[in-house]
Amino acid sequence: MTNREKIDWLAKGQLLSEEELAGLLRSKTEEDRLYAAGLARTLTDRYYGRKIYFRGLIEFTNYCKNNCYYCGIRAGNANVVRYRMKPEEIYACCDWGYRAGFRTFVLQGGEDPYFDDEKIVELVSTIRDRYPDCAITLSIGEKSKESYQRYFDAGANRYLLRHETACPEHYRKLHPPQLSLENRLRCLRDLKDIGYQTGCGMMVGSPYQTEENLAQDLLYIGEFRPEMVGIGPFIPHHDTCFRDCQAGTLEDTLFLLSLIRLIHPRVLLPATTALGTIVADGREQGILAGANVVMPNISPTDMRKNYLLYDNKIGTQDDAAESQRRLEESIAAIGYQVVSDRGDYCWEDKV
Ligand code: 5AD
Repeated sequence: MTNREKIDWLAKGQLLSEEELAGLLRSKTEEDRLYAAGLARTLTDRYYGRKIYFRGLIEFTNYCKNNCYYCGIRAGNANVVRYRMKPEEIYACCDWGYRAGFRTFVLQGGEDPYFDDEKIVELVSTIRDRYPDCAITLSIGEKSKESYQRYFDAGANRYLLRHETACPEHYRKLHPPQLSLENRLRCLRDLKDIGYQTGCGMMVGSPYQTEENLAQDLLYIGEFRPEMVGIGPFIPHHDTCFRDCQAGTLEDTLFLLSLIRLIHPRVLLPATTALGTIVADGREQGILAGANVVMPNISPTDMRKNYLLYDNKIGTQDDAAESQRRLEESIAAIGYQVVSDRGDYCWEDKV
């Protein structure tokens, strides 16, 4: 099959093997990429129209007990100024976000044992009471099924936990031995079984990643059918052992966004901050390649500079209102409209 035939094949909802996908990734041309983006965008429009959903991201703690080799806030990085937001500070972010039109709040943090289940349940139930029309997304790492169930019962609706790579050997090259792909995938399964809208995802161009690995990621996404997929380029952080590794490229990330859309047409797919970090209009290009979600940071400005998973992260200095306005404008300029909406997964067919 030619690359174009493979792309058409995926767009028809047909499967490709790992070798076929790896071959496509290895040999894709700029024309293939634009062709896939066009088909991906048509599919996104079919299910979600030209609407872009905004999620208010609150990075509420940068303490982390893990030591993922790629991540700037890993436990072993002594150069990080650590912070935890107080509940009232978190609610103040929601309050600001609600008035700015956000209807999804994403509580994201390192795996911080200080925030035990009781504290998380308290945060979730308070936000649930105060904002009954908003979705609450958690992104706080690996927990037991019981813990996930407690957060869900308190009112959380969605959970983001990137699988990072679907290949166990590659997983071991990116993480210390305490962490396993097996447990990661167990968590994702539990989340979905409980009823969360569940998000997995991976970095593009992470160290040691091969085209076969990315093909395995695509096959995993096609099989697991998460409601959300977060991908962005790997970007080195100066305080990690991967400091001298190459960043993932814009073109590869855009192509993968499009392929994910073709394989799983209804998925909620963000154009991530990392994509906007490697190229100024990366998020807009992501939308044109099939993304339909953007996640602006609504954490207090003085804390943002300490939540650096990678170098040169955008939006760490700006005024949230001002940068949001600029982003809405640049999204409007490419023909899309930012909407004030929960933006749930599209289970029902729209006519
Ligand atoms: N570059 C890009 N993405 C990163 N993440 C962590 N470190 C980096 C990095 N150096 C991603 C991981 C994680 C998510 C919160 O951020 O995929 O799951």
